Amino acid sequence: MKKSRAWAVLGFLATASVGAAAPPTNQEVDQRVEALLRQMTLAEKVGQLTQAGAFPGMDPAGAVRKGAGSILWLNDAKQFNAMQKVAVEETRLKIPVLFALDVIHGYRTIFPVPLAMAASWDPAGYEKAQAVAAREARAAGLHWTFAPMLDIARDARWGRIVEGAGEDPFLGAAMAAAQVRGLQGPYAGSPEHLVACAKHFAGYGASDGGRDYDPVYLPEGLLRNVYFPPFQAAVKAGVGTFMSAYMDLNDVPATANRFLLRDVLRGEWAFKGFVVSDAFGPANLVTQGFAADGKEAARRAVEAGLDMDMASNTFGQHLAAEVEAGRVKMTVIDEAVRPILGTKVRMGLFENPYVDETKTAAVLATPAHREEARRAAQRSMVLLKNDKQALPLKKDGGSIAVIGPLADSKADTEGSWIVFGHVPSAVTVLDGIRAKVGPGVKVTHASGPAIRRDIPSFFEEFIPGLKKPAQTPETAEAAYQEALATARSADVVVMVLGETAYMSGEAASRASLDLPGRQQELLQAVTALGKKVVLVLIGGRPLGVTWANENVPAILEAWQPGTEGGHAVADVLFGDVNPGGKLPVTFPKKAGHAPLYYARTLTHQPEGSQRYSPRYWDGAESPLYPFGYGLSYTTFAYSNLKVAAPKVALGQTATVTVDVKNTGAVAGDEVVQLYVHQRTGSDSRPRRELKGFERVTLAPGETKAVSFRVGAAELSYWSTSQKRSLQDSAAFDVWVGGDSTATSHTEFEVTQ
Ligand code: NOJ
Repeated sequence: MKKSRAWAVLGFLATASVGAAAPPTNQEVDQRVEALLRQMTLAEKVGQLTQAGAFPGMDPAGAVRKGAGSILWLNDAKQFNAMQKVAVEETRLKIPVLFALDVIHGYRTIFPVPLAMAASWDPAGYEKAQAVAAREARAAGLHWTFAPMLDIARDARWGRIVEGAGEDPFLGAAMAAAQVRGLQGPYAGSPEHLVACAKHFAGYGASDGGRDYDPVYLPEGLLRNVYFPPFQAAVKAGVGTFMSAYMDLNDVPATANRFLLRDVLRGEWAFKGFVVSDAFGPANLVTQGFAADGKEAARRAVEAGLDMDMASNTFGQHLAAEVEAGRVKMTVIDEAVRPILGTKVRMGLFENPYVDETKTAAVLATPAHREEARRAAQRSMVLLKNDKQALPLKKDGGSIAVIGPLADSKADTEGSWIVFGHVPSAVTVLDGIRAKVGPGVKVTHASGPAIRRDIPSFFEEFIPGLKKPAQTPETAEAAYQEALATARSADVVVMVLGETAYMSGEAASRASLDLPGRQQELLQAVTALGKKVVLVLIGGRPLGVTWANENVPAILEAWQPGTEGGHAVADVLFGDVNPGGKLPVTFPKKAGHAPLYYARTLTHQPEGSQRYSPRYWDGAESPLYPFGYGLSYTTFAYSNLKVAAPKVALGQTATVTVDVKNTGAVAGDEVVQLYVHQRTGSDSRPRRELKGFERVTLAPGETKAVSFRVGAAELSYWSTSQKRSLQDSAAFDVWVGGDSTATSHTEFEVTQ
C-alpha cells in the first residue's frame, strides 16, 4: 500500500477542506508532537492521560490547572473558555484541553435514537444526522463525542440495545462507518465536526442474561465474526478514538485487556488514535477484583493499551510513581500521550483554543437541522402491522383520541441519552397529530396511568422532565377511567404506548419485555370498545407486543423519534409519508426467548424437517417480527433473481441481481436485503447472514434492478476450527427479499 493511501485509510489525511485552512500534514503533526513530548515532564505527560469529570463535587478547573488533558460532562461554552484560558495561559506548556461529552443522537436538534436510525437502513441519512449533531456540538464548544456506540445486541432485555444498530454485524458495520464519517467529516479533528469514539470495545452487548455490566463470555469466533466488524469498520473510516468497555470479557476486564487493545486494535487493525476507558474504568479494576490497588490498576491498564483514564484519576494518582519505580516504562507513557497530543494539533486547538460563544445560537436547531431530524424520523419508522389498510388515517372528519402516557411527553419522545443541560423540546405525537389534521377533526387526549421504573434511573435525577410524578392507586385509577372514557367518545383511537426514555439505555435492563405499568390492560380495554385502534410504540427496545399483534389492526414502531418525532409519526399515520423502515433487531414474543437473533447456525433438527421438535414446549420461539421486517402502504414483488455465474473462484466476486417492483398504488421504499448461507465448510456457518442491502424508492408500477457484489470480504470469516480468517470453497444459498425470511432463492459455488 502506498503511504498516501495508507493514511487515507486511517482517515488522517486532509483530502477535503471544510471551511478553514488545510490541516497539518502527518509529518507536521508528528514533528510538533515530538517537540512537545521532549519538553514534557513525567507529571505533564500523565496529566494528558487524565480526563477529569465535571460533575457536582468535582473540580474540573483545578484538574486543568494540574494539567488534565481532557474534561468530560461539561456543557457550557463560558466554562469551556474559562477552563481553556487556564490551560493555555497558566500551564507551563500551554497545551489546550479536549472537551468531551456524550452527543449520541443530536445536540440541540435531537435525532431518533441509534436503534431507530439503524431501522432506516440508510447509512447516508445516518451520516447526515451525525454531521448535524457534530456541527451543533462543535459550535457549542465541544470537541469530542463518545459516539458511535457499536455494540452488537441480540438480547432485547439489555437496556443499551437502544444505543446501537441492533443485532447484525453487516448492518452494524455500515452504520458504524456512516456515523464516523458524519461525526468527524474528512478527518478526525476537522472543523465543524467532533472527534468520534468507537465504544464500548468489546462485547458489552453480550452480557449474561442481558444484565447491564455483567460478565461477557464470547468465544473468539463470535467476537471476531459478530462483535468486531462494526469496530473494524470504524477504524477503516478513520475513527479518532476508542472507548474500552466496562465489563469482563472472558474474565479479563476490557479496560486492561491486552488482546483487545494491543493485539487486535493496534496490532491487527493498525489503529493510530487513542483509547479512553469508560467512566472510572481504571479504578473499577480494583472493584472488579482484577487489580489489588490503584497502583496495580494503573500499571496493568496502561500496559494493556489504555491511554486515557476517564474520571477515576487512577492514572493521575499512580502512574508517575509507577514509572519512577521502574514498573512502567517511559516509552509506554510516551506512546499513550502521542495520539492525544496529535488529536489536539490536528484539531487546530493550539491556534484556536476557544469557542466563539457569539456564534453558537445561530447553529443550534436551525430549520434545516429540524427538517433533517424529521426526515430521519420518518425513515426510521417501521410499520409492524396494517390489517385491512387500517392506516393511513383520514385527515378530515370524525374524532381521534390520542391515548397513553407517551402521547404527550417531550422527554420520552426525544429518548434516552440527550446531552446534559438540554431541555427536552420535542414535538410529541399529540402535537404532531393536532398539527396534521384539518379543522373538522376533533382531537382529544388522555394519558392514562403514568408509567415508572420499579427502580429509578440515575439519569432521572439530573435531567429535567424525566422524573415521573408518583401516582397513588386512586389517581392512577382515575387516569385509567378518564383514558377509557376519552377513547369511548372518539371514532379512532391512537394508543401511544411503550417505554419511557430511561427504561432503556445504561442501567436499564429488564427481565420482562411487556408493556410496563397498566398499559396492556388499558390497550385491551380500549380495543374491546370496538373502535379502530392504532398502536404507536415509543421505546428503545423490542417490546413483546404479542397480544397487540393478534388483536390490534395497526402497529407502528416509532422508537424514540427525537425533536421532530411527533411530526414524523403524524406524517406516517396520515399517509403523507409511506413508512419504509425495517427492524434492525428480532422482536421475540417473550423475554424468555432472548437472546433471539436470525443468524443462528442450523441444528440437527432444522425447522421444516420431519424430525423437528420445538425448542420450547410452551410456545414456538419463532420471532414475533423477524430481523429486517417492516411493511409499507404499498407492496413489492421480487423476480429474476440471478447470479452472474454459477461458480466463482476463491477470492473472486459473485454478482447477484434481482428486479424489485412496486406492485401497489402508492410510491414507497423497500429495503432490498441479500442473505447468504454457506452450506458446509471449515466451521458450521449461520443459517443466514445479511451480506448486502439497499433502500430503494419506487413509484407505483416501477421496477428497479438491484445488484449486489458478494466477494471475499463478505464470504471470509474467522474459523474456530482453523484458528484463522479464511474463505472456504463451498456451495452458497442466496436469498433476496424484504426481510430475513426472504424466499426468493438462488445459489452459487465458490471453487478452489
Ligand atoms: C458511561 C457509559 O457507559 C458510556 O457510554 C459513556 O460514554 C460514559 N459513561 C461517559 O458519559
